[in-house]
Amino acid sequence: MTRHLDRREFIQLAGLATAGVAGVVFSSGLRGVSFAAGKGRAEDFMFLQMSDLHWGFAGPAVNPDADGTLDKAIAHVNALPHQPDFIVFTGDLTHTTDDPQERRKRLAHVRDAVGKLKVKKQRYLAGEHDASLDRAEAFKEFFGETRYTFDHKGVHFIVLDNVSDPTGKLGDDQIQWLRADLAKHDKEAPIVVLTHRPLFDLAPDWDWATGDGSAAIEALMPYEYVTVFYGHIHQEHHQLTGHIPHHAAKGLMFPLPAPHSVPKKAPIPWDAANPYRGLGFRTIESQSGGDEYALTEQSVEKA
Ligand SMILES: [Fe+2]
Repeated sequence: MTRHLDRREFIQLAGLATAGVAGVVFSSGLRGVSFAAGKGRAEDFMFLQMSDLHWGFAGPAVNPDADGTLDKAIAHVNALPHQPDFIVFTGDLTHTTDDPQERRKRLAHVRDAVGKLKVKKQRYLAGEHDASLDRAEAFKEFFGETRYTFDHKGVHFIVLDNVSDPTGKLGDDQIQWLRADLAKHDKEAPIVVLTHRPLFDLAPDWDWATGDGSAAIEALMPYEYVTVFYGHIHQEHHQLTGHIPHHAAKGLMFPLPAPHSVPKKAPIPWDAANPYRGLGFRTIESQSGGDEYALTEQSVEKA
């Protein structure tokens, strides 16, 4: 099921999103298709977001199939009738460990596992589990830089690193870098921001925020067609800051509770009656030249 909605409906939907709405088209702006076509902008395409793999996590009460869940997700992706143009991993590829050798072992495992995906064009982000103990030193050995940009079919993608700094900030240097990159684009350019933590204050006392995320949002605000995709909170979530939508994806190891729905943040225990519940990934279909995105939530197991 896919339907279109305008910005007012989006705001209403944001409140319903935890009910598991799938296949909804989120509008990043109000411009019509004809104008986009007139400008000769991007063609439609599909990419896939996978997040919070947490390879190395152990806790049978939370996920008794900790070693098998990632492979199931990969098999599911490979079986999709329509393969994405590329796949983005929005951080926490590994579960944290104090041991630098073990960290590298986990990163190597993930590198080999995602090598089994049919789609070889992949983009990686670090999460704080991967990167906050060594400022992403090990992560970079396996997956490259933690902040960068790329372009795909007319859409400009900006990857922000709000995890290498253990205080969870972007830092002035990165915000300057972001401003300089944005300055190269006109205000109507379709832009997608990929990051791990939410840029807005979803639940700062649960570490669901970016210390200086408001500076990034401020820099993005003059741009009309910005959409943010992130991970970290292990659940689907949709929110607007001004005209900018932010979409969190499910994780692939354990779900976390809705923000402030329980006194203390902790993984949701495994439900034997509903195995893999709350785990998944999403396909993201760019429409109208990057003005709209149709999100479809996928479960871990092969459909
Ligand atoms: Fe995570």
